[in-house]
Amino acid sequence: MKFSFTVLPGIEDIALSELKKKWSSLNSSELPEIEQKKGKLFLEADVSDVCTLIPYLRIPTDAYIILDEFTGKDRPKIYNKISKIPWHNYLRGDFPLVLVTTKESKIINSSLVKESVESGIKLALKKSPIKKVPKGKESISNKIHIDLYQDRLRVSLSLCGTRMDKRGVKLYTDAAPLRESIAAAMTFRLSELCEDQNLIDPMSGTGTFSLESILFNRYNSYRDFDYQIAPFFINLPLRKRKKIENRLFKSVSTYDLSPKSVESIKHNFIPFKEEFEEIIVQDFFKLEERTDSVAIINPPYGKRIKLDEELDIFINRIITHAKDSIKLKKIALIFPTWAYHKLKGLNLLEKRFISNGGIDVAFIIIDLT
Ligand SMILES: C[S@@+](CC[C@H](N)C(=O)[O-])C[C@H]1O[C@@H](n2cnc3c(N)ncnc32)[C@H](O)[C@@H]1O
Repeated sequence: MKFSFTVLPGIEDIALSELKKKWSSLNSSELPEIEQKKGKLFLEADVSDVCTLIPYLRIPTDAYIILDEFTGKDRPKIYNKISKIPWHNYLRGDFPLVLVTTKESKIINSSLVKESVESGIKLALKKSPIKKVPKGKESISNKIHIDLYQDRLRVSLSLCGTRMDKRGVKLYTDAAPLRESIAAAMTFRLSELCEDQNLIDPMSGTGTFSLESILFNRYNSYRDFDYQIAPFFINLPLRKRKKIENRLFKSVSTYDLSPKSVESIKHNFIPFKEEFEEIIVQDFFKLEERTDSVAIINPPYGKRIKLDEELDIFINRIITHAKDSIKLKKIALIFPTWAYHKLKGLNLLEKRFISNGGIDVAFIIIDLT
């Protein structure tokens, strides 16, 4: 079968690297060819191999099984093709949520396409109805994406339902949390560039970096994924859950100036308490020398969290303190792009421009040695 993973544009190659690494740790089959496109990774593989990976992947935001692809220039054909898909094999519970995008095609009206698709599904389900969800389980979303691009129509079903970057862990959030998928990509990339280092997360806010680095290689058992109760999946032979033992960093220390932030992290991360070196209220600018350490920081931008100086000046102070006083080996930072353009003389190991919830940000890793 064919599959696709959705990835935030700008970090597709990091997601690819994660997928390759985890594939070889979890699956015995050879890694298939993976096509990298803007915001997507495509592959053809065994459904069990892909589903095995899903609860371990942290950088993609969704995973889809591609159920059909055909030329869709008229609505009767779309209706007909859709009605031939064995939907009862894939769906469970409620009627699916159909999302349609159209671009550069003969039919451009997405509402009309949606109508034809929904009618086609209804016809299929009249013959073979959808099973109810098992007792005690919540209804799944059965999210279907129809992409009509240059008259080619692709029918994809989400294997996750709720986005993959919703981990099911963090309960209370404080100001300005970073998207989990971005935090995961950054911690993973930083770990790839250094060996056997201690991570400090000194302006941790809600603790996204810390938690992502701790959970990165683990099976996510804190939430459900749609595929887990889909008929096509539950009929497959059960696979033993494998463990990936290696951690991204030797230790993780989490700090913030705000006592409220630290309190909520401590509360939210009770199940992972043992994994942290320490979680304490601490001013970054008072941190002293450390050995074999790297840091990852999403500084306050001055918008949602007040800042008394210009952001680029604040970032320069962070870099200087990290290098001269804490003697950090590397530092990863994410902050608005405009401030990046004001910085000079950085020894960059990594530079990317991405969008974090509508704000253009730069993600950089600096070598401080
Ligand atoms: C943008 S938020 C970080 C958000 C975080 N990435 C998350 O996902 O929740 C910046 C954090 O830096 C903290 N902060 C600001 N100045 C600090 C300092 N001098 N030392 C330690 N933390 C500081 C703020 O309290 C705030 O929680």
